[in-house]
Amino acid sequence: MQGMVFTEFLKMVDEYYSPEITEKVISECKMETNGAYTSVGNYSHTELVSLVVALAKHDTKSVQQLVRAFGNYLLERFSQTYSDFFDEYDDVFDFFDKIGPHVHNEVMKLYPDSSPPSISTKRISEESTQLFYKSHRCLGDAAHGLIEGALEYYATEAIIERNDLNEKDGCFVCFTITKLPRKKH
Ligand code: HEM
Repeated sequence: MQGMVFTEFLKMVDEYYSPEITEKVISECKMETNGAYTSVGNYSHTELVSLVVALAKHDTKSVQQLVRAFGNYLLERFSQTYSDFFDEYDDVFDFFDKIGPHVHNEVMKLYPDSSPPSISTKRISEESTQLFYKSHRCLGDAAHGLIEGALEYYATEAIIERNDLNEKDGCFVCFTITKLPRKKH
C-alpha cells in the first residue's frame, strides 16, 4: 500500500495522541521498516494493521473503531492534498460515483505501483445510493470512515447501513447511504 497512507496514519497518531505514543506504537510492532516510511514507497498493508493493533493498546477504542477513525481522517487529508477532485463535484453522491472510475483510476496513473480497492456505486433513488467496496486488504472499516468523512466534507447528513460479505479472496462490503432531509430554518 502507498507510503502516504502510512505517513498519514502516523501523523494522525501524532496529532490525536502524541509524538511519544507514535514512537511507542512503532517500537511495539516488529516491522521490517521500523516505521521509516516515505510517501512514495510501497509497503504491506499488514504493517498498517499491526500499527493499529499496537495503538489500540493505548486507547479504549477497538481496532475496528480506530481503522474507521483513520478513514475519516484520511478523507479530510485527501480533501486538502487533492482538492481538485473534490472541487469537481457539488453533491456527495456524484463524488461517490466517481471514486472508482475517476479518483482511484487517476491514483493508479499517478502511482503505477498502487492498487486501490474496487469501488462501485448503484443509485437507488434521489436520496439513497449503494457503494460497494471490494479488496483483498479487507479494510471495510477504513472505507466506512472515508464515506463518513466525505459526507462531512459535503455537509450532508445521512444514515449509513453496512453489510459485510466476506469472500474467499478478500472482502466485499455493501454500504447503503440514505440522505436525511435538510433541516428547515
Ligand atoms: C468515499 C471515498 C473513498 C473510499 C470509500 C475509498 C476507499 C479506499 C480504501 C478502503 C483504501 C485502502 C486500501 C484497500 O482497502 O484496498 C483506499 C486506498 C487508497 N485510496 Fe481511496 N477511497 C475513497 C476516496 C479516495 C480519494 C478521494 C482519494 C484521493 C484523492 C483516494 C486515494 C486512495 C489512495 C492513494 C489509496 C492507496 C492505494 C494503494 O496503496 O495502493 N481515495 N481507498
